[in-house]
Order: sequence, then structure tokens, then C-alpha cells
Amino acid sequence: MSAHSATEQPLLRLCGIHKRFGDNHVLRGVDLELAAREVVCLIGPSGSGKTTLLRCVNHLEVPTEGRAILQGELLGQYTRRGRLVPLPPRELAAQRAAIGMVFQHFNLFDHKTALENVTEAPIQVAGMSKHEARAIAGRLLESVGLAEKAHAYPRQLSGGQKQRVAIARALAMSPKLMLFDEPTSALDPEIVGEVLDVMRKLAHEGMTMLVATHEMTFARDVADRVVFMDGGVIVEQGPPSQVLTAPSHERTKRFLARLL
Ligand SMILES: Nc1ncnc2c1ncn2[C@@H]1O[C@H](COP(=O)(O)OP(=O)(O)O)[C@@H](O)[C@H]1O
Ligand SMILES: [Mg+2]
Repeated sequence: MSAHSATEQPLLRLCGIHKRFGDNHVLRGVDLELAAREVVCLIGPSGSGKTTLLRCVNHLEVPTEGRAILQGELLGQYTRRGRLVPLPPRELAAQRAAIGMVFQHFNLFDHKTALENVTEAPIQVAGMSKHEARAIAGRLLESVGLAEKAHAYPRQLSGGQKQRVAIARALAMSPKLMLFDEPTSALDPEIVGEVLDVMRKLAHEGMTMLVATHEMTFARDVADRVVFMDGGVIVEQGPPSQVLTAPSHERTKRFLARLL
């Protein structure tokens, strides 16, 4: 979908990311780059570190070591007197606004309607007027097929509808990058497709996406690149035709064999 040009800087660069939770060394040096408009699917066994890696991108988890850089800007940290220190909360929030995240379990505000979920960040974080935020949210809900559910509360929505609200919410801040953490894993099989269709459309519109998923058909059809993680490292990566059908590493072969 997108060609890496030698001169174009990557939209996202992860350099030497390590994450430890106490003695548990979960990420062990992850380097990954995403070009603008690229769709990368992150696959790997449960516990391999996919969620932790996604959360390190937007500093929901602070990497123990390493850097995440979005369009040349260091995320979550800045240099003070020659040392890297955490960014103050307000500036971190501003950076996060450029990165949309969709979670496995939706993480919607249960006491807010679909529309209010989508307008929350534009109003509270971006300082947008209610009028403008509602207009944008209405269009976004329409784009995910939920115009008629704008005033429904999450408890009145199916899992697939909730996840589409969550996608609309993430898009409301006009992110440069979208992170998806197994967005369909909590859904009944018959409604997985409606969420994947929305993601497919986003990919075709040119959104840059990093997607942890077990949906191999989606990865095969939509990803520009598939990255296989195991034990906190990237074991191999490449076009889906290569990684999914002719993997070169034994660990990748074993993982894919288990899915069949
Ligand atoms: N907040 C946390 N505290 C302690 N350990 C964690 C935390 N989050 C994840 N882990 C550990 O990190 C490892 C990788 O988990 P995770 O990133 O969720 O993998 P995946 O998403 O690939 O299943 C697991 O061993 C998990 O127990
Ligand atoms: Mg996970």
C-alpha cells in the first residue's frame, strides 16, 4: 500500500524498547518503524508482549529503556540538562492526542452516550466547542455505521457496536497513528466482521495503523507488513505473503500451525 522511500522519515520509530515489570523482562529490545500510511499487524502468542509494546508507544506504560519517536518528536520524554526525563502530564496528553488507541475491552465511558464518548476528548483535551465536537462526532459515528446509536449508552450496544464507537472516539482527535490491541478478541465471531470492515476502510483511507491481532485473514488482506513477536522480541517481519505463508523461523511456524 505504501512504499518506503529512502528520504521519507518514518511516521513512528521505536528504538531499543525494553520493558521490565519487576523481574519480568517483558520487552527485550524492540526496534520497529512505520511509514506514513503503512498498516502493520503485530502477531504472536499470548504473553509475547504485544499489548505492552502498544502501550509503550503512547506511554500508557513507560519503557524501561528505549525511545518512541513520532514524526521526529520523542514521545513521553524530553531532554533536560542532557538527560531524558518524563514529559509533564499536560504535554504528554497533547502528544497522546496524536495517537488513537482501541482496546480489546472497548474502555468506553459507561455513563456517557456514544456521542458523548466521542466528544469527550475533543472538548476536554483539545478545547473544541461543544457544537463543533458534536458535528464531528456525528460524522464519525456515521462513518462507522452508528449514526442512529448516537444517544445510546454502551450497555445498550452490542460488542461490535461498542468497538465501533471506540474507533470513532479514537478518530475524533484526528490522530496521525492508530493503535489497535486485539480489537475483535472480545467479540462474538459473528460480529467480528463489522469491526474489521471499519478497520479495513480506515486502512484504505490511508490511516497509519499498528494492529495487534489474531485475525490472520485481516492481516493477510490488509497489512503491508506482518511482525511476529515472541518472548518480547521481534522474531521476524515482512509482507504477509512471506510471514504468514512461508515463515523462515521455527517459532513463527509453530505459532501459525497452532492457529490452524
Ligand atoms: N502491568 C503489568 N504488570 C506486571 N506484568 C505485566 C503487566 N502488563 C503485562 N505484564 C506481563 O507482561 C507479559 C506480556 O504481556 P502482554 O504485553 O499483555 O502480552 P500479549 O499482549 O502479547 O499477550 C506477561 O508476562 C504479562 O504478565
Ligand atoms: Mg495483549
